[in-house]
Amino acid sequence: MPKKLRIGVIFGGRSGEHEVSLRSARSVIEAIDKSKYEVVPIAITKEGNWLGPGPASQLLPAETQRMISSEARSGPDEDVTILGDPSRSGLMRLDGEHNSPDPLDVVFPVLHGTYGEDGTLQGLLEMAAIPFVGCGTLASACGMDKVAMKALFKDAGLPICKYTWFLRTEWESDRDKVLRRVRKEIGFPCFVKPANLGSSVGVSKAVDKTSFVKAADLASRYDRKIIVEELVDGREIECAVMGNDDAKASLPGEYVIHEESARFLDYTEKYSSTGNVDFVVPARISKSIMKRIQTMATQAYKAIDAAGLSRVDFFLKPDGELLLNEINTLPGLTDVSGFPKMWAASGVPFQQVIDDLIEFAIERHRERARNETSI
Ligand SMILES: Nc1ncnc2c1ncn2[C@@H]1O[C@H](COP(=O)(O)OP(=O)(O)O)[C@@H](O)[C@H]1O
Ligand SMILES: [Mg+2]
Repeated sequence: MPKKLRIGVIFGGRSGEHEVSLRSARSVIEAIDKSKYEVVPIAITKEGNWLGPGPASQLLPAETQRMISSEARSGPDEDVTILGDPSRSGLMRLDGEHNSPDPLDVVFPVLHGTYGEDGTLQGLLEMAAIPFVGCGTLASACGMDKVAMKALFKDAGLPICKYTWFLRTEWESDRDKVLRRVRKEIGFPCFVKPANLGSSVGVSKAVDKTSFVKAADLASRYDRKIIVEELVDGREIECAVMGNDDAKASLPGEYVIHEESARFLDYTEKYSSTGNVDFVVPARISKSIMKRIQTMATQAYKAIDAAGLSRVDFFLKPDGELLLNEINTLPGLTDVSGFPKMWAASGVPFQQVIDDLIEFAIERHRERARNETSI
């Protein structure tokens, strides 16, 4: 029997999406084909401390823990790390005694938000020369920064809403100047967001000067860069994309909001079952709009140079105009998340999704390894 590949699943993390990551990791670990792969769980605490397989497993529900081999789960309880040194690539234990790493064949970052989805961890894994699931450093960073992302979309000729942006320090030093710019370029109502965050944290709608000041102050707590967008009145449609240079789009799905008063999809509504929001796949749209969404989703994927997986989010306006909202390079992978649901409805069960993602990681690593490095 061929040796099982060791897959380091990293979860938790320092962002506000720590808990969502634990839920995503649970789904991923449960879906990994244990006959082909050995799961090596690695957790990052909210403080940024890396926990080895033993303590990491304990952050997962008991039934998920049982799916991890006792060999992978056992072992000393020391903290671990990955070094940016290809000659020592693998999981290093920080006990001061072992200095040979436990090999990892592939790393699966199941982290959302800052220090996980934003290219920082990807940079470390690229330096360590370990194949990893998902986007590389560039695409991860561009997918996280809504200003950089929009610039790339615009450059690719993709339709996006009107937007402008400013720095927190500009806001702090001259509010009137920022306000004048927002009034001139966007106007009210508008959406104010931290440029580098997710799950609707720090996002609010402003209808006048007073609410804008509140919204900008709030967004400034979370980022040094703030983006302001025109308010788009549209249905929220999403499309999952997987693959490397020849990526494929799933059937699109749609968030259906039942209550008229719902302002926009906030964190609670996306990740809990309030009963107010349903994710429906396929989205209730015509074949031709579906096709346009799928084409645009793969174009957006290419525009940021994505790899492995992403979820691309759209607004569909009542007049049929389609706008790209954003791309998420490590979308939620929980049992209630859109990404797995869209693939399931497209005929790809989650176990196959996970298998494919691991294959794409290896393929991308090989493709990069073809580059000559000496001149
Ligand atoms: N320009 C906009 N017009 C109307 N609603 C918006 C706009 N931007 C964001 N929203 C609403 O806020 C939610 C979160 O914004 P989004 O840009 O997707 O940020 P996040 O990265 O937090 O998911 C969206 O799903 C949508 O409901
Ligand atoms: Mg979003």
